[in-house]
Amino acid sequence: MLDGVMECKDVLFQIKDKMFMVTLDKINKAADLICKGELIAFPTETVYGLGANALDAKAVARIFALKERPYFDPLIVHIHSQHIVNQLVMDVPPLAQTLMKRFWPGPLTIILRKKPLVPDIVTAGMPTVGLRIPNHPVALALIEKAGVPIAAPSANPFGKLSPTKAEHVAKYFNQQIPMILDGGACQKGLESTIIDLSGFEPTIRRLGALPIEDITACIGPCRDVTANSGGDIMPGTLDKHYAPQTVLILLSAQDPWPKSPSRRGYVVFGVTPDELKDEPHVLNLSKQGDLFEAAAGLFEGLHQMDQMGLERIYVKPFPKHGLGLAIMDRLVKAANTFRA
Ligand code: TXA
Ligand code: MG
Repeated sequence: MLDGVMECKDVLFQIKDKMFMVTLDKINKAADLICKGELIAFPTETVYGLGANALDAKAVARIFALKERPYFDPLIVHIHSQHIVNQLVMDVPPLAQTLMKRFWPGPLTIILRKKPLVPDIVTAGMPTVGLRIPNHPVALALIEKAGVPIAAPSANPFGKLSPTKAEHVAKYFNQQIPMILDGGACQKGLESTIIDLSGFEPTIRRLGALPIEDITACIGPCRDVTANSGGDIMPGTLDKHYAPQTVLILLSAQDPWPKSPSRRGYVVFGVTPDELKDEPHVLNLSKQGDLFEAAAGLFEGLHQMDQMGLERIYVKPFPKHGLGLAIMDRLVKAANTFRA
C-alpha cells in the first residue's frame, strides 16, 4: 500500500503528465505541527483536508472553530494503514474487511463502532467513527510521519465549495493555518463515498467519488439514505453545503437554457448545445461525456466561475448513474442554498 512512499525520502508523484515533489523536510514540518496540536491542510485524492491529530480533542476543536462548523457534524479520521483500524474501533465486521481490502487506499469512508480512544468531539458524540485511508502519497507520508490518525474535514469554511487545489485552501484560510501542503489538483475531485457498517444493514450515508455500483458489485445491495433521507437526516446532508457565492440554478432537462441576466454562466456536460455556442461563460465538464472527468473538474470549475463576477450559473441534471448521482447530489445542495 505504501508503494512509492519511502521512509526518509522526498515524495515524488505524477498527476496526469505532470511530476510533483513534496520534500521530506515539508512532510516532517507538517507532521511536527500536527503533533504539536496545530492544524494543517493536506492533499488527498478526493479534496484537500484540514487536518489535526484525531486523538487530541483540543486540536480537533480548532478545526470546528476555524471552519465555523457545527459540533454535531462528525469528522472523518484518516489513517495510513489497515493495521491501525483495530486500535480505533470495537470490531471490524467481515463486510468491512472485504471493502477495505478492495477499496483502500481510496475514496471510501467506512463507519464503525468507535473505541473510547477516539475523542467524542471527533464523532460529534456518536458511538461510531468514519475511517479512511486516502490514496495520495503525500497524505500517506504525512499520516505515517505524524504517527497519529488525522481527523480532517474538507478544507473549506462550513457550507462553502470544497477545495480541490492548494490555492482554493489558500483563498479560504491562508493566514490562519501554518501550512498548506501542495499536492497538486485532487484527481477525484469529489469527497469520499461514506458507508455505515456499524448497524445491521450496510447503509450508504453519502454519495461520493466511489460509485455505488462498485460497492454493490463487491458486497451486494446496500440501504441508501442519501436520495431521500426521510427522518434519517445526516449532518453531511444539510442544505447549506458545497455552495458557490454565485446563485446556481439547477434547471430540468427539458427547460430551455435561459438567456438572462446579462452576466450569466453555464455548466454543461457532453456536446455543448448549439444555443450556447456564442455564450462567453460556458464550462464544459467533459466534452466526451465522461463522468469521472466531470467529477474531477466540478468544484474547480465552480471555483473558477465564482471568480467571474457572474450573477447566475445555470446547470442541467447529470445522468442518474455512477458518479452522475454524486455530482447531482452536490449540485442540488449548492442550488438549494439559494432557495432556502
Ligand atoms: O473525501 C473526504 O471524505 C474528505 C477528505 C478530506 O478525506 N473529507 C470530507 O470530510 O469530506 P467532511 O467533514 O467534509 O465530511 C464528513 C462527513 C460528515 O459531514 C458526516 O456526514 C460524515 O462524514 N461522517 C463522519 N463521521 C461520521 C459518523 N461517525 N457517522 C455518520 N456520518 C459521519
Ligand atoms: Mg465538507
